[in-house]
Amino acid sequence: MDKFLIRGGRPLQGKIEIGGAKNSALPCLAATLLTAETVTLHNVPYVKDLITQRRLLEDLGATVLTPELRTHKVTAKNVTLFEAPYELVKTMRASVLALGPLLGRFGQAKVSLPGGCAIGTRPIDLHLKAFEQLGAQVSLEKGDVVARAPKGRLVGSDVDFETVTVTGTENVMMAAALATGRTVIRNAAMEPEIEDLADLLNKMGARIKGAGTPQIDIEGVDELGSAEHTIIPDRIETGTFIVAAAITDGELEIKGCRPDHLVAVIDKLREAGVSIEELNPSTLLVKREPSGLKSRDVTTEPHPKFPTDMQAQYMALMTQAEGTSVIIETIFENRFMHASEMKRMGADIQISGSSAVVRGRAQLVGAPVLASDLRASASLVLAGLAAGGETLIDRVYHIDRGYETIVRKLRSVGADIERIKEDVTQPTNDAAETAGAAVAIGTVVDNPSPS
Ligand code: EPZ
Repeated sequence: MDKFLIRGGRPLQGKIEIGGAKNSALPCLAATLLTAETVTLHNVPYVKDLITQRRLLEDLGATVLTPELRTHKVTAKNVTLFEAPYELVKTMRASVLALGPLLGRFGQAKVSLPGGCAIGTRPIDLHLKAFEQLGAQVSLEKGDVVARAPKGRLVGSDVDFETVTVTGTENVMMAAALATGRTVIRNAAMEPEIEDLADLLNKMGARIKGAGTPQIDIEGVDELGSAEHTIIPDRIETGTFIVAAAITDGELEIKGCRPDHLVAVIDKLREAGVSIEELNPSTLLVKREPSGLKSRDVTTEPHPKFPTDMQAQYMALMTQAEGTSVIIETIFENRFMHASEMKRMGADIQISGSSAVVRGRAQLVGAPVLASDLRASASLVLAGLAAGGETLIDRVYHIDRGYETIVRKLRSVGADIERIKEDVTQPTNDAAETAGAAVAIGTVVDNPSPS
């Protein structure tokens, strides 16, 4: 498995360009299954999860062309299979996003029930309950969720989510877009990725109102058509690089981002002594306040509150802040795996249940550490950039899932970081940085060298 070797202690300086949002591109690619016509998506991040999603579409019978590395032209005309197999679902639980569109368009779908993951049990019971509310018959057969619309088509209905669920809301929006009649989703997730998906669906001819609010209204239509859409920037990648500038006491200009998508993060980081200046609606200038970093408590909650996907990165920053901070994780029951790895680097963190007490300004010292999931691996990179000496991060395949060419981006602003490939003969440039990951799952990359 590839590793990252980081020699820390260098302030980052320069410009970083933010890529497309993984958590929007995934449902938007799934939505292409809702029509036989061609849907063109731009700004699709070149990360492992999207390569897996593309493979799923191709396995189902869709054609996916990539005239450019980050543009996908999908035509789901000859979908012959309605099944997302275990082999794929076990590598990426977001494969469950195929359920809604397949059920919505074809009245049938079979998806392997995703198991738990490092950060929690993550059931999909609320997705399945919602499909039943839309008239589907749902059963579990040998580890697979099998869903059928008895009349061949779902029927619009009220869906009240007892817990806010992001992919649950996305799955129901896609299924209900082709149902007969009206669907009202209450206690819906309000993440920017939900709005982006609704934007695409409406361009395809859907009739969705209220995305981004707790209540979403969907008037089902008989058919959806072609569309062209550009995926929003990745707000979590943006947040990660804001922390990278602050934790290294550097100065970064973060371009191509949407500050309005991470207001809670920016507000909290400003409170904690990070100067974040909006140079224009898509560019932030980030550095530390002269008075330094201060410990501030935070609780993760659904959007628009502080996102759980920034919790690990925030914890890394709090290890360098003056004072003691309390971090409370309310979304996932096991999302502190990074804490024990940071403690190996000298951080002072006490975990009890869903809260972590971080005593700042620890002198971090590089050490071999283990990444356990996507955001945990990002937090270890941040800790490594702040630490003295060498940090060796193992299992960085986690980070390849959601961060596009992170080694190249960090090196371009002065970080001393390199990817140690399992096979040292391999080159480590852009395409290789992700193509290496792609080959790991046996997918043919259309255009290996980015244009
Ligand atoms: C999405 O996961 C994101 N993934 C996650 O990002 C993110 O952490 C999460 O939302 C929360 O913001 C994608 O968009 C692909 P949920 P999702 O359903 O939809 C419980 C990353 O790092 N729940 O909103 O799977 C669940 O266990 C990833 O990019 C049920 O109990 O999360 C959790 O405690 C990690 N039953 C809570 O709700 C259900 O049927 C929120 O989960 C569904 C969810």
